[in-house]
Amino acid sequence: MKEPIGMTAPDRTCQPDVPELPRRIRWSAATAAFQIEGARAADGRGRSVWDQWVETPDKVIDGSTAEPGPDSYHRWPEDVALAAGLGLDRYRFSISWTRVQPDGTGGANSAGLDYYSRLVDGLLEAGVTPFPTLYHWDLPVPVHEAGGWCSRDTAARFADYTALVVDRLGDRVKNWYTINEPAMTTLQGYAVGALAPGEFLLFDALPTAHHQLLAHGLASTVLRSAGAEAVGVANNHTHVRALRDDDADRAALEAYDILHNRIFADPILTGAYPDLAAFGYEMPVRDGDLELIGARPDFYAVNFYNPTTVTAPTGADNPIPFDIVPTPGAPVTGFGEEWPIVPEALTGLLLDFTERYPGLPPLIVSENGASFPEPARAGFVDDTDRISFLDGHIRAVARAIDGGADVEEYTVWSLLDNFEWADGFTQRFGLVHVDFDTAERTPKASYDWYRRVIDGNRR
Ligand code: NOJ
Repeated sequence: MKEPIGMTAPDRTCQPDVPELPRRIRWSAATAAFQIEGARAADGRGRSVWDQWVETPDKVIDGSTAEPGPDSYHRWPEDVALAAGLGLDRYRFSISWTRVQPDGTGGANSAGLDYYSRLVDGLLEAGVTPFPTLYHWDLPVPVHEAGGWCSRDTAARFADYTALVVDRLGDRVKNWYTINEPAMTTLQGYAVGALAPGEFLLFDALPTAHHQLLAHGLASTVLRSAGAEAVGVANNHTHVRALRDDDADRAALEAYDILHNRIFADPILTGAYPDLAAFGYEMPVRDGDLELIGARPDFYAVNFYNPTTVTAPTGADNPIPFDIVPTPGAPVTGFGEEWPIVPEALTGLLLDFTERYPGLPPLIVSENGASFPEPARAGFVDDTDRISFLDGHIRAVARAIDGGADVEEYTVWSLLDNFEWADGFTQRFGLVHVDFDTAERTPKASYDWYRRVIDGNRR
């Protein structure tokens, strides 16, 4: 049972063993601009599809607007100190397109870039390597109105924005994630409308996958020519399971695996899309696109949270070739049955990638974590459920390495409690508790535990 908040940290003299990795990997924790920064109108920041979303009634479960939230735009030195206190090798944060280029075109807003420049300097001074993501879902409104990710031109806009960022930060930042979770943008943002921009296009959303991958390819070229040392994409991947061992469920598994995993990974790692004929679709590929997208990345990064169990679709005329069902027998996180806890699914995913894509670049786990119901006001949280989730998944990474996966980095989502998109402030993923009224930060038990994991794995 959880202790009430406000109590002091319990005596942990009998501390449990922390997982030990078979080899040295890098340790990280992640956040994203819209989820932690607040200050949506500060210093010339422009509006993104997420500003529109939070201002539309009933889109965010608790009606919150991401402000002030952790207010990292003002309190970033505390985040840097927390990252350094963990002993992180790297900190994954994202850069807001609309702080840098308020309308998504034209010159840079230097005040926006100044913020990230200060953050980068702060991290470097603290001995933590900055590892930014250029795009974590905050598409500028004018770019959305010009077609958003349905439009090929958005890829070119993204490359221009990338050039502005690397021009300012590239002397100090050498490692870059281009795009975060293109799969979620396509599936949740454009196919079923659960996240901004909230389009309901079903299979007509597929071009948004190609345009994001093209954006990744174009931005990678810009970054490399500006001296970047490591560039890659961070995608959401899931380990797909069939509910039943029969042909209909195996077909459902195949379809879901293509739509969630392979549409995004195959072109980057093999230079070709999987066969989409079964969906009656072809990607809008033009000459040269696949060479650009398939140029070898320096790493391939997976955000992993849970497996997905599917079964054959129910209902006549169902346009979707699968139903997603609860994973039998699995415990769940704060999201309930939607987010089953199955650490061995991470081992399975990493080993499947290793087998499916021979010659794969090193893998990074760029997000992994869980939310659980936790108190709102400031105080210590003894989050043993999060410790056990992370412990299980880090041991799952260790088993994948033992099995032959080349994993070079592991990242906890998240350093801080933050704005969980359509779930607002109702789901807490942080190693550090944030009181969303005061932005006060209090490390949880999992913070101390992760610090010991990192320390215990120094070699
Ligand atoms: C993945 C996304 O990248 C991140 O923004 C989100 O908060 C976590 N998943 C948890 O849902």
